[in-house]
Amino acid sequence: MSSVFFGPSGRLRGEVTAPPDKSISHRAALLGAMSVEPVRISNYLQAADTISTLNALRAVGALVEQHEDYVVVRGTGLREAREPGGPIDVGNAGTLMRLLPGWLAAQEGRIYVLDGDTSIRRRPVDRIAAPLTLMGAQIEASDDRFPPFVVYGTRLHAITYELPVASAQVKSCVLLAGIGADGTTSVVEPVASRDHTERMLAGAGASVQRDGLTVSVTCTDELDAQSLTVPGDLSSAAFMIAAGVLVRGSRLLVRDVGVNWTRTGFLRILERMGAIAIGALEEPSQEVATTEPVSDIDVAAGPIVGTAVEADEVPLAIDELPLVALLGCFAEGETVVRGAQELRVKESDRIAGVVDGLRGLGASIEATADGFAVTGAGGRGLRGGVIDAGGDHRMAMLGAVAGLASREGVEVVGMEAAAVSYPAFAEDLARLA
Ligand code: S3P
Repeated sequence: MSSVFFGPSGRLRGEVTAPPDKSISHRAALLGAMSVEPVRISNYLQAADTISTLNALRAVGALVEQHEDYVVVRGTGLREAREPGGPIDVGNAGTLMRLLPGWLAAQEGRIYVLDGDTSIRRRPVDRIAAPLTLMGAQIEASDDRFPPFVVYGTRLHAITYELPVASAQVKSCVLLAGIGADGTTSVVEPVASRDHTERMLAGAGASVQRDGLTVSVTCTDELDAQSLTVPGDLSSAAFMIAAGVLVRGSRLLVRDVGVNWTRTGFLRILERMGAIAIGALEEPSQEVATTEPVSDIDVAAGPIVGTAVEADEVPLAIDELPLVALLGCFAEGETVVRGAQELRVKESDRIAGVVDGLRGLGASIEATADGFAVTGAGGRGLRGGVIDAGGDHRMAMLGAVAGLASREGVEVVGMEAAAVSYPAFAEDLARLA
């Protein structure tokens, strides 16, 4: 495990291009594998999670070519995923673990075993097993809840499913299964979550309808995913943006960030905090778009104030909430996040990790069952110290940004975890400093 020290930084200046979006890369490869025609994906994320996806798709029969600037996926078609010789290794990738079974469940008479690393073995799959079972598939999970788990593919039938938790992964799983099921499958969300799957399915010729918080797909024989260029990942860019806001005197341009409105909750939270992080954000819409909007984000450091994040905003900023806690440490007043119990089942328990980690750096922060409350120190900021990433990429990057903005610097234990989503993170940060 590598420990890296991030000392207090002078102002950050210059431009950085956001790394390719992880969520969109997973989905593009998956839809490519489900399609009949080859799909060319430019700017595919070359990181541990999305390489796991390419390998998993190879295991079920897709041909994947890696070129310097793009990836080509030659799919098997909707109903011809092969049965692999052994377990499919999803590595650390929760999105892969929850989306792929949606497709595999519709493979009549075939059996698939999915497994991953020690973190993945702690992440629940009962949330996808429940709807897939209602559709007719059989799922056998360890302790009825965890990987490794077995998917017995079958002829699926359509359902209307009310999601008990707001989760784009579960929604996507049901929609992908719905594409191969008889009839029209609907998913009702408690609150809106990222809609990349809907957009991409519509772009691939599927019939996708949205009515408020209900999204429906109708069975089809063929998908024809479009070749696409993956936009930059707001969830990765968020670390650069937070560093730009927190490190005194900074002025940055973060280029090519995906600004789909279902992803930009963090930028709206920042705006409420009084931070300067400006881009041409997509407006919320009821329409099912087929493309992903992109913008540069202009960031400048400045004083910030506390804010409250409530349940309806949580899925739109879910992976950035640890950064909201960090920003809260530097804000005047209190920052509270509620309705975010999902953070407990991410790559690590991100409520415990954020609260213990930031407290160790001198923060005044309390955990609640579904979030946290931070009492900001305003301009005094954060002392610094040591933080353990606990194998979680976003916790590693959080520690690094905390270090740059702190008074004494932060040693991040397990910095290599960043390679899961943002392999060039440390280099990009060093260039700005
Ligand atoms: C993701 C959805 C979110 C997010 C994860 C990626 C996706 O998870 O935290 O990093 O690509 O659909 P949930 O849907 O479980 O909230």
